[in-house]
Amino acid sequence: MYLPVRTERGEIDGVMMFETDVTEQVLARRRVGEQTAALTRALEAAERATRAKDEFLAMLGHELRNPLSPIVTAVQLMRLRGAEFPELSVIDRQVAHLTHLVDDLLDVSRITRGKFTLNREVIELSEVVARAIEIASPLLEQRRHLLTVNVPARGLTVDGDSERLAQVVSNLLTNAAKYSDAESRIFVSAGHADGRRELRVRDEGLGIPPELLDTVFDAYVQQRQAIDRARGGLGLGLTIARTLVNLHGGTIRAESAGPGYGSDFIIELPVSTLRGAAIEPEAGPRISVAPRPGPRVLVVDDSTDTAEMLTQVLQCLGYDVASAHDGPSALERARTFRADVALLDIGLPVMDGYELAERLRTSLNGAPGPTLIAVTGYGQEADRNRTAAAGFAHHLVKPIDIQELVSLLERVPAQC
Ligand SMILES: Nc1ncnc2c1ncn2[C@@H]1O[C@H](COP(=O)(O)OP(=O)(O)OP(=O)(O)O)[C@@H](O)[C@H]1O
Ligand SMILES: [Mg+2]
Repeated sequence: MYLPVRTERGEIDGVMMFETDVTEQVLARRRVGEQTAALTRALEAAERATRAKDEFLAMLGHELRNPLSPIVTAVQLMRLRGAEFPELSVIDRQVAHLTHLVDDLLDVSRITRGKFTLNREVIELSEVVARAIEIASPLLEQRRHLLTVNVPARGLTVDGDSERLAQVVSNLLTNAAKYSDAESRIFVSAGHADGRRELRVRDEGLGIPPELLDTVFDAYVQQRQAIDRARGGLGLGLTIARTLVNLHGGTIRAESAGPGYGSDFIIELPVSTLRGAAIEPEAGPRISVAPRPGPRVLVVDDSTDTAEMLTQVLQCLGYDVASAHDGPSALERARTFRADVALLDIGLPVMDGYELAERLRTSLNGAPGPTLIAVTGYGQEADRNRTAAAGFAHHLVKPIDIQELVSLLERVPAQC
């Protein structure tokens, strides 16, 4: 800063200079700028790493699901051929467990990427609970728990996705069984609370320390386990449960008086506002061998094991089957085989399942093309919409249930 120095008569006689050394402030500001830039870079790197992890988990899920498919089908084929080894039940159980883990991984990666949709309708909580008990019953029976259910059959409706809510409650039941002694008591109850539906799953097991009551809902969080990790798990069940409940506009919380005093999980859901009757759940049929001649089936899958197992099961059930492992050879085979139904994998090399579907319909010189069924590892709403738009009549997710496939095939009219 400069100031004039004046004589007594007001004439300027000199200049006074003031100096402030701002080096420190400038350096400090520069340091803050650099730190902010470094933080931004670190944040971006963390976001990239999270995205890469989510994409990796999604890919891992699909890659693990593919080999499960021929294993499930091979076991079903052995049963159809009359094999009755006790080892088959072991394979069944372990494959079901692996499928469950893979499904959880896929669910979590969809949740974190915001790719999750619900099929909502008016449903009774009693139906949700019944389905959940069915899912959890192998573990409940194996550990001989005493289950007390206090849920009114009618009158507690919510607008929900029954499969997803049953998944939530079965996760809670599985936890209640896993984290308490064999033969202990587990309680499921439902009712109204402050204009909302309330559903509780309570056990008399290990309990949860107060500092973990909120965090158990975070991904991969588990209480300490012994080195044998006898209880296993990925720490995802409650994360999936909370996200699904939140997507329904509800809340979930845990209560426990502490280690050794059992745990109580409470779900609150808004009451139903949709109009329409609750839908009666259908009893799920188990595998039955009731073939009729035809229809002729073309199986296309680039996994030779999957194609081979599916072909053998269908042949065993009396169907006339041909198979191919890529689009061009499938088109070639279709010219002479005249399939009534084509079971197409979507992720095929060279030409994907959508393009193959289109070509199958247009390449047969005006003859009606086969009914198309997608058999794929992708089972989200968006995937189903895409196969429907591409002209597929049905969409099955691997590992497929043979009984479901057979009931679809029985509805297909033979072309000859
Ligand atoms: N009923 C319960 N009693 C005591 N602890 C529980 C109970 N439910 C959950 N926990 C604790 O919360 C943790 C997280 O549960 P969560 O269901 O998310 O994962 P997990 O059961 O370990 O694995 P999975 O992914 O197979 O469900 C568990 O590991 C356990 O420590
Ligand atoms: Mg769990």
